[in-house]
Amino acid sequence: MNLNILIIGRGGREHAIAWKTAQSKLVSKIFVAPGNDGIAESFTCININETDTEQLVRFAKENNIHLTIVGPEAALMNGIVDLFQKEGLKIFGPTKAAAQIEGSKQFAKELMQKHRIPTADFQVFDNYANAKQYLLAKGTPIVIKYDGLAAGKGVVVAMSMEEADQALQEMLLKNRFGKGKVVIEEFLAGPEFSLMAFVHNETVLPLAIAQDHKRAFDGDRGPNTGGMGAYTPVPIIPQTAVDDAVNSIMIPTAKAMVEDGTPFTGILYGGLILTKTGPKVIEFNARFGDPETEVVLPKMKSDMIEVILKLLDGEEQTIEWHENAFLGVVLASKGYPESFEKGIEIKGIEAESRKQKAENVILFHCGTAKKEEKWVNNGGRVLIVVGVGDTLANARKNAYLTTENLSSDNLFYRTDIGGQAIEN
Ligand code: AMP
Ligand code: GLY
Repeated sequence: MNLNILIIGRGGREHAIAWKTAQSKLVSKIFVAPGNDGIAESFTCININETDTEQLVRFAKENNIHLTIVGPEAALMNGIVDLFQKEGLKIFGPTKAAAQIEGSKQFAKELMQKHRIPTADFQVFDNYANAKQYLLAKGTPIVIKYDGLAAGKGVVVAMSMEEADQALQEMLLKNRFGKGKVVIEEFLAGPEFSLMAFVHNETVLPLAIAQDHKRAFDGDRGPNTGGMGAYTPVPIIPQTAVDDAVNSIMIPTAKAMVEDGTPFTGILYGGLILTKTGPKVIEFNARFGDPETEVVLPKMKSDMIEVILKLLDGEEQTIEWHENAFLGVVLASKGYPESFEKGIEIKGIEAESRKQKAENVILFHCGTAKKEEKWVNNGGRVLIVVGVGDTLANARKNAYLTTENLSSDNLFYRTDIGGQAIEN
């Protein structure tokens, strides 16, 4: 086959999706919309934004695109899948209705409650007085979540009543993120892990699990970010717990979506926590995780495009995995996740890219640009260096050897990715 594939998005995740797509024996051309200058070194980037759905439809038709893969949630919530399907174009991602599993915490929580999918107990409030009363009855620690998009700042894990009350006031009285609802939920304790699955209606094909590091600085300090690094495998999570999560969470969720009239196709991402009573859901996403994808797709041995096409055709299959460990370290712009300067030179990219294969590293571009032949930062997360090794310790060593050569005054990275999972 000679398939043309279109990938929507512009970050390290989409670079990894394109990189994996390029290994498929079925593929002839790969386009990324809009991509970034780093992705453009190896793939054809086209200048159409993720949410410009009509232009993307036109491009897909004119260029005989056989399959479109969607990266970011914004495109999904904008209804890109609905429009592509209406136009008879093959696309891998959930409809706008199914993407609510990520877009609306209330939708996700009510689905889990109704179908008995293990998650924290919760209640939804739009009124401060009622919320406060519930808070007082439950006590702390407790978790308060704004129901909607809040740029990663909508979750407060409150250890004290003052902290919890302040969060409620900001969200329900001062409308810090707009006028909306709040989910108050039980605090869960245990190690977290990310379990993604290729899903089409009731069929669920789990990917290897990964762990993400969300805080900006070493030792899990500092503000929450999109993710400062990830690794796979995750030794602290036993395979029995993963199997349990697939059987008690991922498969029942796919079935529930079908039953409730919002069947899910695409990547279902479970942000899970392994509690003393088994795995429970913290959140669902309706797409590939970032930066988990940058380590999980390299670990995948099977042809991803073949897997997706067979899945959409309802064929049975099993996914194969490499034995190796993969560990990714994100280089971010100083100041991220708040404000940061753009356009500052990063040295060493060309040299490190040339060494890649020999040194057991893969370099994905999250937010770079090329200006007058020089690489500069053009986003919060700039690069992710993925180390490959027979053990996590070796994967980490390979990642950090390269990371050090790319660092600059304007970039920072965590030095403890993999953390306690790795015994040296
Ligand atoms: P979320 O945006 O829902 O993924 O939450 C962000 C982070 O807050 C998670 O990765 C957890 O570390 C933490 N968190 C969210 N919900 C809970 C909970 N119910 N119990 C404990 N920690 C939580
Ligand atoms: N790494 C978490 C996410 O993609 O939302």
